[in-house]
Amino acid sequence: MVRHRKGGKEPHKSSNNETSSSSGSSDISVEKKPFKILSLWKTLVGFICLVVAIYGGVVGYLETRVNTPFDDVKVVQKSGLEVPDRYWGTYRPGVYLGMKSREPWSPVFGLMWYELAAAAQKGIRHWCDQGDNLPTYGWLRHDGVTFGEQLISDPPHQIVTSFVKTPGGAHGGHWTARINVTATARSPGPFALVWYGALDESLGPAAPHSRLWIEGGDILGHTSNLRNFRLNLVPHKGKILHKSFSEAHAEGLHLLKEKFYGLLRGDKHSKIGNIAVLSEDDDVIVKNKDANFVLIQLIVEAPFVLDVVYTTEELPTPPLKGDEFTKSLEEKKKSFDNEFEKKFKLQEKGYRKEDVDVAKAALSNMLGGIGYFYGAGRVQSQYTKESVPYWRAPLYTAVPSRSFFPRGFLWDEGFHGLLIGRWSPDIELDIAAHWLDLINVEGWIAREQILGVEALARVPKEFVVQNNAAANPPILLITLARLVQLRPELFKPQGRLRGTLDRMFSRLQAWYQWFQTTQKGEEATSYRWRGREDDGLQLNPKTLTSGLDDYPRASHPSDIERHVDLRCWMYAAADAMVTIADVLQRDVSKFETTRDQLGDEDLLNELHWSTRTQTYADYGLHTDGVRLVRQQSKKPNENGKMVRVVTTAPQPMLVTSAFGYISLFPMLLKVLKSDSEKLERILDSLDKPDLLWSPYGLRSLSKSSPLYMKRNTEHDPPYWRGQIWMNINYLALSSLKYYATVPGPYKAKAGQLHDRLRENVVRNIISEYRRTGYLWEQYSGEDGKGSGCRPFSGWTGLLVLIMAEQY
Ligand SMILES: *[C@@H]1O[C@H](CO)[C@@H](O)[C@H](O)[C@H]1NC(C)=O
Repeated sequence: MVRHRKGGKEPHKSSNNETSSSSGSSDISVEKKPFKILSLWKTLVGFICLVVAIYGGVVGYLETRVNTPFDDVKVVQKSGLEVPDRYWGTYRPGVYLGMKSREPWSPVFGLMWYELAAAAQKGIRHWCDQGDNLPTYGWLRHDGVTFGEQLISDPPHQIVTSFVKTPGGAHGGHWTARINVTATARSPGPFALVWYGALDESLGPAAPHSRLWIEGGDILGHTSNLRNFRLNLVPHKGKILHKSFSEAHAEGLHLLKEKFYGLLRGDKHSKIGNIAVLSEDDDVIVKNKDANFVLIQLIVEAPFVLDVVYTTEELPTPPLKGDEFTKSLEEKKKSFDNEFEKKFKLQEKGYRKEDVDVAKAALSNMLGGIGYFYGAGRVQSQYTKESVPYWRAPLYTAVPSRSFFPRGFLWDEGFHGLLIGRWSPDIELDIAAHWLDLINVEGWIAREQILGVEALARVPKEFVVQNNAAANPPILLITLARLVQLRPELFKPQGRLRGTLDRMFSRLQAWYQWFQTTQKGEEATSYRWRGREDDGLQLNPKTLTSGLDDYPRASHPSDIERHVDLRCWMYAAADAMVTIADVLQRDVSKFETTRDQLGDEDLLNELHWSTRTQTYADYGLHTDGVRLVRQQSKKPNENGKMVRVVTTAPQPMLVTSAFGYISLFPMLLKVLKSDSEKLERILDSLDKPDLLWSPYGLRSLSKSSPLYMKRNTEHDPPYWRGQIWMNINYLALSSLKYYATVPGPYKAKAGQLHDRLRENVVRNIISEYRRTGYLWEQYSGEDGKGSGCRPFSGWTGLLVLIMAEQY
């Protein structure tokens, strides 16, 4: 989907037409009035020039639109120090522990560690990395604003990292981070803790007044916003065996660990034998580069507790450390627990304490996974050959996975917002505001946001560029509307978040309109995800934009295709626009008209209902007769490529063989009326074990589907072809609860299915969390085991809302 599409073919065609028709008319004129030939030719040349100029102008205009910001006041009005309580935070979710501020040029701080005896095998811990194979890590409690506590297990050590912020002053307040290392084995041997500070210079030397240095064993620094600050490393408990430090120059924020390796020198004569210690940096000493990366390495023996105390000059309150910190953290934890129970009532519902703890971890990892990114993505317009940089912008957002996807994803964020909004509408609105400020003048928002060098370093090259024809489900819009329904007082004329929603409106409308125009299908009221490409290698060409990547669609992408999930998303989006426009006292009529049209079941059935299979389906050019076959290689001893072979020709038809999540969308997004017979059909199909039902949740694709758990290419294992995904199970539960609540003939059936599905899903996620230490990206439809990446505390964290029955 990132490759060039069309390459401006369409504008070319129309310009040729115009040129030929104008020369045609000149022939006629020439015949009639020969004496005017000269001036006619002049006119003609002039006209051609004009056409070329207009064409050039149009193309130039279209080319630049892709990275032209939407023309209206930004939704985010206050940032940086203007939002003092969210200024500092664990806004680097991709590292095990990292602090930074919500400021493009924020200094960043973080932790690395290693076990001396095992450093050669296990390496140095820094970025969250699945390859580290830690038995568990993640926030046990985190309120998104003032504190957090995280448990990291790295046998034979256990590390608890916590932080508490002390607000106040005009420079962002103070904070203390605690690193508490205990041993799970009797004589664990020495352990190295490395605390560092670094300046992000990927934005250019725009912060010439920023400095970092080391003095008296502390990290000191200066930036124009923070003025002078200090990080005091205070050992609270335990013994330091050796201490070394370095002032160094790193080539980029993404190369800190590499630089750290480069700074280590063997010291045979230390009191504790041969160890690696930090040394002077030639880049600074010899080459005279500025120090932008300062580190302190402590070699300690567990148990050891270190307090890192960050202070600025002006705040009169003493910073937290030692027992004061312990006390403050305990208080924070207690009030978090109270707030959690008040909001989700899980104890009241009868859940055991151990299960409530899993739910707390799920919420905390969602909040602790919120990052602050700054930079410019790369985007590709349909009208240009080369990709261009987007404008530089901040993004405050949660992330799907700290190890695997530590960056912003558009549709994921819609799901995250369902939970975050329940905890803190202010945080959620701030997140949505940042996303909506990324909309361009066309009304497009890129699906994946890769901002800043740290984020970029983790993305394979072929996925970096975002194409402006690519959509992604508009659930963020639906989430905002849900928040309006749940907390109307915040959005009424005097409400606290009214102004923010009001500034969002023109952008939401533009985004909504962008879908309506760019993702339209050929038939009236039908829609089609753009960006499907048949490269001859995939068993079924992916639809990355739909979010359901390899979920089977029509085997041969074509313009006649129509996608049932997208049509339902558009119904829900129109409905959301009605809710939002209504609370803002704006005109709702055109959204209502679209919603009612898309809610018309006869129209939906004409486009997507199969009377033969009694199911909803996509429509397109399709055949089930496809296979992956290995080609003969020309070279001996070498395997040929796997390619797709088509054994029966594709026909225009409903793709009914792919029964699964998308067949449920008319129910999932509540398009169907509560007395619809089609709803009954869907409900009847839900709890069939040979289709989607499993003791662990609903499978993405029916066991009876030809592509169930099939690889898409030789390198591409199945992804949405049977595995259980929590975002869709959440939608299923939400809709079942809805149909169980509103009057209708299938009320009881829906309620019963809801209860059974909910129990299965909750039981399995919790037991897998206990067994493996993580929430997972997806769960196996065969045995319920966590699969895909971990930790995945994005939408799997919807567990909390499912337990609470808050939809
Ligand atoms: C450090 O962690 C251990 C084990 O979790 C705990 O018992 C101890 O109280 C902690 N110490 C401090 C000072 O936080």
